[in-house]
Amino acid sequence: MSDKGSSLVENSALDQRRRTHFKPVRPDDAEFILSLRTDPQLNSFLSPVDDSVEAQRRWIESYVAREDRGEEYYYLIMHEGRRAGTVRLYDFQFENGIRSFSWGSWIIPAPRPKGLANVSLCLVYKISFSSLGFNRSHFKVDLRNLKVIELHLRTGAERLADSDGDANFYFWPKEMKSLWARHKEALVEHEQY
Ligand SMILES: CC(C)(COP(=O)(O)OP(=O)(O)OC[C@H]1O[C@@H](n2cnc3c(N)ncnc32)[C@H](O)[C@@H]1OP(=O)(O)O)[C@@H](O)C(=O)NCCC(=O)NCCS
Repeated sequence: MSDKGSSLVENSALDQRRRTHFKPVRPDDAEFILSLRTDPQLNSFLSPVDDSVEAQRRWIESYVAREDRGEEYYYLIMHEGRRAGTVRLYDFQFENGIRSFSWGSWIIPAPRPKGLANVSLCLVYKISFSSLGFNRSHFKVDLRNLKVIELHLRTGAERLADSDGDANFYFWPKEMKSLWARHKEALVEHEQY
């Protein structure tokens, strides 16, 4: 399976020696991902997926082709050598000089290592703004997912008008400095070798 797309992305978030890092999703991750997507504790606010490892594997194969074209990035959140969750960057847009990406499929099953949710969010913004050339993120959160809406508001995300049962947000790079300051200790701890 090709590694071309992901190998073009260079960022410390992908450094496999770090305690927490991202690793591009590959077809062999199908079973792990399906276990998250079909867990009723985790999937209430996610789009449903076909309940078959083979279908998941085929979906990941089609994803790898999109990754090769630089259209989408789907990562495992790796923590202390094991798969601890997922996150996905998609819907890349370019309009009026703004390069914007959406992100989601953000899942970390319990028990969640301390700091991992915020550190993985920081790594999403680090990789997208410093290596992928984006200068905005746009994303939606189901209006019932109150905890995650609150989490994004704490990051400094700009809340836009709600639509179709979703809260809509922008996150701008200008918020990175204070985001980093707020999670400095967790970042140091999670980015160590
Ligand atoms: C999205 C997800 C990864 C977020 O993780 P989470 O642990 O539930 O997020 P929380 O907001 O509860 O906690 C994150 C951190 O903020 C802290 N926190 C919570 N409320 C806080 C507050 N009011 N002020 C400051 N910190 C707060 C928590 O203590 C935690 O810090 P820690 O890791 O150091 O303990 C997780 O909920 C998940 O996998 N959900 C299922 C899938 C989903 O809905 N994804 C989102 C849509 S894509």
